[in-house]
Amino acid sequence: AASTRYEAESSPAVCTGTIDSDWAGYSGSGFCNGNNAVGAYAQFTVNAATSGTATLKVRFASGTTTARPADVTVNGSAAPSASFESTGTWAAWATKTLTVPVRSGSNTIRLNPTTSAGLPNVDYLDV
Ligand code: GCU
Repeated sequence: AASTRYEAESSPAVCTGTIDSDWAGYSGSGFCNGNNAVGAYAQFTVNAATSGTATLKVRFASGTTTARPADVTVNGSAAPSASFESTGTWAAWATKTLTVPVRSGSNTIRLNPTTSAGLPNVDYLDV
């Protein structure tokens, strides 16, 4: 089936930080620049037609050399974690594929950074 795009800057998505548009190449009207802190997060509300496994494609950019790891939760439960490697510059966007369990209907998916560097800049989730 065709994927659905969930923009990080569009409600009901939540960005603990600012919605910025100062780095080119993003989709929609901006991206989530999460606070550089543990506890800052990017959250998406994703619809699934059936329960099972969903493939999430997170578009992100990170102009720092050190990877930014994140825990992933789905409806509050831990899913496999992710590491967002450097993309070279803040204007270079890459896609990270995550595989998570979902239930039929609405799912709350959160990217929770595990270091004080916070998340990379997050553009959208394709599901
Ligand atoms: C820079 C960059 C931001 C980015 C931030 C970070 O300030 O301009 O877009 O979010 O670094 O380190 O997270």
